[in-house]
Order: sequence, then C-alpha cells, then structure tokens
Amino acid sequence: MAKILVTAALPYANGPLHLGHLASTYLPSDIFSRYHRLKGNDIVFVCASDEHGTPIQINAEKAGIKPEEFVKKFHEEHSEDFNAMGVSFDMFYHTHSHENQKMSDHFFECANKAGVIFKKKVLLTYCENCKRYLPDRYVKGECPACGASDQYGDVCEACGKTHAGNELKNPKCAICGKTPVKKEDEHYFFKLSLYEKRLKEYLETNKNLQKSVKNYVSGWLKGGLKDWDITRNGPYFGFKIPGEEDKYYYVWLDAPIGYVSSTVKWAEGANRNWEDFWKSKDSRIVHFIGKDIIYFHYLFWPALLMAAGFELPSAIPTRGYLTVESEKMSKSRGTFILLKDYLARFSSDYLRYYLTTSTPNSTVDVNFSWNEFQSKCNSDLSDAFGNFVHRTLAFISARYGGVVPKPSVLDDADIEFQKKIDSLPENVAKQMEAIEIKRALEEIMAFTHACNKYFNEACPWKTIQEKKEKCDTTLYICARAIGVLSVVLEPFIPNTTKTLQGFLGSKGAAWDDAVSIVSAGQKISEPTPLFKKIEDSEISEKGDSVKKDIVEPKTEDEGDPFTRMALRTGKIISAVEHPNADKLYVLGVDFGGEKRAIVAGIKGAYKIEELLDKKAVFLTNIKPTKIRGIESQGMVLVADDGKQLSLLFSGAEPGDVVSAEGVSQNPVDVFLFEDFQKNTMSATKDNGVNVLGASLVCAGKKVYVENVSCGAKIR
Ligand code: 2FM
Ligand code: ZN
Repeated sequence: MAKILVTAALPYANGPLHLGHLASTYLPSDIFSRYHRLKGNDIVFVCASDEHGTPIQINAEKAGIKPEEFVKKFHEEHSEDFNAMGVSFDMFYHTHSHENQKMSDHFFECANKAGVIFKKKVLLTYCENCKRYLPDRYVKGECPACGASDQYGDVCEACGKTHAGNELKNPKCAICGKTPVKKEDEHYFFKLSLYEKRLKEYLETNKNLQKSVKNYVSGWLKGGLKDWDITRNGPYFGFKIPGEEDKYYYVWLDAPIGYVSSTVKWAEGANRNWEDFWKSKDSRIVHFIGKDIIYFHYLFWPALLMAAGFELPSAIPTRGYLTVESEKMSKSRGTFILLKDYLARFSSDYLRYYLTTSTPNSTVDVNFSWNEFQSKCNSDLSDAFGNFVHRTLAFISARYGGVVPKPSVLDDADIEFQKKIDSLPENVAKQMEAIEIKRALEEIMAFTHACNKYFNEACPWKTIQEKKEKCDTTLYICARAIGVLSVVLEPFIPNTTKTLQGFLGSKGAAWDDAVSIVSAGQKISEPTPLFKKIEDSEISEKGDSVKKDIVEPKTEDEGDPFTRMALRTGKIISAVEHPNADKLYVLGVDFGGEKRAIVAGIKGAYKIEELLDKKAVFLTNIKPTKIRGIESQGMVLVADDGKQLSLLFSGAEPGDVVSAEGVSQNPVDVFLFEDFQKNTMSATKDNGVNVLGASLVCAGKKVYVENVSCGAKIR
C-alpha cells in the first residue's frame, strides 16, 4: 500500500487565519489527503502551529503574557477554524514541543557531524534605542539583490531572495524607525553551498516539482547559495542551541522540522513508526505551500533532510497569492477576509467549492470575488449538482416509494451514460494523482451537467405514464450517478456529501467502490435541498459587511502611524486583576461619559491603588481584541526603557483628544496593532513625549512620564 505523508505549511501562531491561507495551502492539502484516504492508501496528514520567532516574542511581551500562553490562544483559534472548514489533519501539533526540540537537536547534531555547521563572526544589526538585536522582520531597508525599497531583513518580497539583515541598504529599525548600529557576534551557519550540486540534481530529476518553480529556484542556484545563519540572539522565543546561553535556533530551522515531530506525535498515538514515512523509499512526502516560502522548501529544507539522512520531498505543490476583488490581499493593508468572519456568514462547502474551482496547480495568483462566489455556488452547486440530486431522489420518493427501481433493457443513451458513471472515479483519480485538484473538480462538474442532460432527454415524467420500464431504467441509472457523486465529491465538499450519503442510506464507500454504492432495491429517504441559494441581498449585505470589516484603511506608505491614531485622555475608574492572566489588569476607563474595558499589561509596574483616578493616554481606535478571554476596547500607552514602565499621564479632562503640536492627524476607523508597533513616539529628557519632533499634548497641557529614561519607547 502506498505510504503518503502530506503536510500543510505551518501557520504562525501570531494572528488569525484568512482566506489566502486556505486557498493556497490548507484546502488543496486537505482535498488531496481525503482523496488518498478514500483510495485506501496509508496516508498521514500533519500540520502544527509555528510558534517561534521574534514577532511572537515581541507580541507576547506587548500583551504582557508569556509566549507559551500567547501561542496557545492562536493554536486553539486555528484548530477551531480548521475544524469548521473541514480540514482533516491527522495531527495538528505545535513546534514549541519537546518532540520538536528533540528532533531539532537531532537535525543540528546530524548536520554538525556531517561537517556542515560552522561558527562565524558576524556583524549584526542592533538598535540602541530598542536595546535589542534586530533580526529578520525587525529591520527594513533596500534589498541588496534587487534594490526594492521597504524590504525586511530576511527575505525580499519583490525578488523572493533571502539575505541577512545587515546586508540591507539604508537599514532602519522596524520598531522605532531609528538607524541601527552594527555589533559583532558569533553565529552558527549551515553550509548550504556544500549542497549546491545535490540540490541541483534533486531539482533536475524530480519530475513532480512544478516547472516554473524549478526554473525560478535554478536561477538562485546558478548565482551560488549563501551559507545560512541559523542562530538568533535572545530575547527570542525558540529552542536554545545546545551549549549556548543566549542563542537560539532560527525559527525557520525548527519550523519544517515540525513536519517530522508532528508525524512523531501522530505515530505515538497511532502505534505506528514515523520513520516509515520519513526514511523509507516507498513513502511519498508531499508539502503543500504558498509561493512566499519557496526558498525554504526547495533549498534549505531538502539540504537539511540530506544532512540528517531523511528522504526528500516527492512533491511540493506551490500555490499563488489570493487577491480579494482583484486587490492584493495583505495583512498590512488589512484587505484580508478572516476565516471566522466568512464562517459566520456562509457554510464551509461553498468556500471549499469556489476556491477549488479558482485555484490552479500553479503559482499564479487567484482572485476572490463575492459576485463570482455567489454565481458559481448558485449555478454549479445549486442549479447543476443540487438540482440533479433533488429531482432524482424526489422522483424516487414520490413515484417509487423511496426504493431504487430495477433497470430493464438499456438503450444507447443509457449505455453511454453508464459508461460515464463507471469511468468517473478513475478519470477524477488521474487528475488527483497529478495534484490537478481544480481539474478533478471540473471533471466532476462536467459530469453533473451530463447528468442533467441525461435526465432531461430521458423525460422520466413522461415515461412514467407511457413506458414504465424505461422510467425505471432512467431513475436507476440516475441514482447510481448520485452514488458515485457522493463519493468523488467527498474530498471537496465533505459536509454536503455526508448529507447526501444520509439520503442514500450509505455510510460512504471507498473510492474504488463508488460505482456500486447504489443498487436496485435500495431504500432512500426523502431529500431536502442540499444547498440554499445565495441571494443578492446576502451578498450585498453580508458580502459588503465582510468587505467593510476587512478594508481597514491603512498602508505603510501613509506616513507615520501616529497620524492615523486616535489618542484620548481616559480616567481609570476601576482596575481588577485579569482572571486568566498573571501579568494583566482589566481597567475600567472613563472617556468623558463613555466607559470602556481595557486590558493592560502593567501589573508589574503599578499596584491597583496607584492606578485609580489617574488620567492617562489611551489609543481608542485600535481594533478591539479578546485578550485571554476578555475583550479590550482600547489600549493603554506606556513608556518603556527596558527597566521601567510609565503611563503617559495627562492633566486634561477625560475624553480630551491627545495630539502633537503642529502635526495634523486623520484617525482611521480601525487602527491595527501591527501598525502601532511602528510608532515612533519616545520619552524626552524633560519627561515629555516626543513624536515627529513635536510634543504630545492634551488640551494645551504636556503629556508626561515618570521614572523612565530619555528615549524610552512608547508601546
Ligand atoms: O510562512 C509561514 O507562515 C510559516 N509559518 C510557514 C512554515 S512552514 C514550515 F516549514 F514549517
Ligand atoms: Zn529601535
């Protein structure tokens, strides 16, 4: 039996899942896995939360909780979304696990033994203002390879190449905007250059890899591969490098290893051997990814696997980005649709269907449009497939007492259509084997059109009067067609096929038995419509409201984030300990008549009695978020110099607007936390707060801080 290990790129436990994740990665991998299960193959489908790295470290600090707690929340949220979307992982584990630590150490040790790990002195980017090294996404500048501006320190979004943070031209600290300095340190490197020849051979000989991606990657290989810095300095949420005090594995080292450790975790529970999937020649490893992580999966990861003596990926299906209404979908622009927002409005199978019909087996970008979503679901699912099922089963219920009739003599049209039924599973399977998931679904939809045509031309509503045996034959054949559909559509729209199988009195069947799921004499139950049509009003109403939620007016090029913030003086009228978090308070804040609950990570700095009746500065247009179960309707600003925290005190009245002298502001409706991280406010030497060269004021009075040193960042 074929062994297949399917993985889906690990989602960062650092934010909610959106439609782009689903389209490129989770949906195709789930459909592929479900198909192989139905084929009876020995298939395991694994994934995990990607929990390490600087962004998670900093966001957890910001939320005032341990990174372990921070990632747990997203792990749980993601699990819920995956369940609701029908994504059927055999294991959804997490990378901050002891299995993954053990496996990461194992890879490191193997690579070390193989002589491909070496230490080297490096010049790192360090922000003296933030007092931290600026790895990866924390430094921005011009790409050293293509010159694109505004690129992060690890990978260029314009040309896709990776680089080191200190190679960026005109670097700036992504947290505070200041120009960083360079500091020397010793880091561990993986000698990627040693694998150039083998990687080239791998790309050339593996026929399953997408041609266009191969060409792309070959281009990088031609230019020569740079050795890979696998160390990050603390503070960092990750695994310590053995024998080191404050050095950690770079998240991109232990993340793909998470594919292996998730398999280990699954194997333990299933009483299986994980090595059968990772170290055996007759296993296929298939990694589903989005095109933003090609470099890691086509170069770093195979090299790591080679170093550790594992099998190489058999296929790496790589999909493009998702645009929404033809606009680039990007977190930072806020034009993304969250899965949970979608799920609150429509059922999972509509989206599974629509995204699959739109996503080809290539890296081209895919567009999501609400109107197209509506028309495709209505015409294909409801009018074609749903209607055929309904008219057939309702006919059998009404005219045959719910029992599938026996066929009599078959005419040419019957024989022709039977052939289509019998060959459908195999035709679809051919596409699935080639990971042509969109084509597989198109094959099925073409078949549903043939079903309706057959039904129409056979006119059972007439033959039932005139030629009963003919009608028997027609309905028998149509019922068989439905039986096959109930199996071959299962990977794509599993909720619907479950209902359908219920009508047929079936518990489903293996792929290869699909043609015999229905037989003469079988009892079926009276059907209800499988789909509800999506009305125009739902699209203009619900579609628009989704759109409104997601189009958050913000872009990086709109100047300093300060200009888009709404800051106000609030009076703290109550403070209690957060019931679910050690370091947080829940504050009751009065903004001059309006009262809000605000979760604040200031427990280490202030006692409750020190807070009551204090007036401080709050960000009031930040997107409300649940923090450990309690919704925070704003954010308290604090100055932080790394040692002490201070509120930003205000002498004005609750509700008064806080501004900077001479700086014009145009607050947006919903301000993102991500943007707040780019704020450039800091404490001055006379205990004020400076932004864009001006003082922060409220009703003509200067906002002030206490006990923090000059330069303290506002966060
Ligand atoms: O780009 C990302 O979202 C990463 N979290 C993907 C990791 S995939 C794997 F290699 F772990
Ligand atoms: Zn900085």
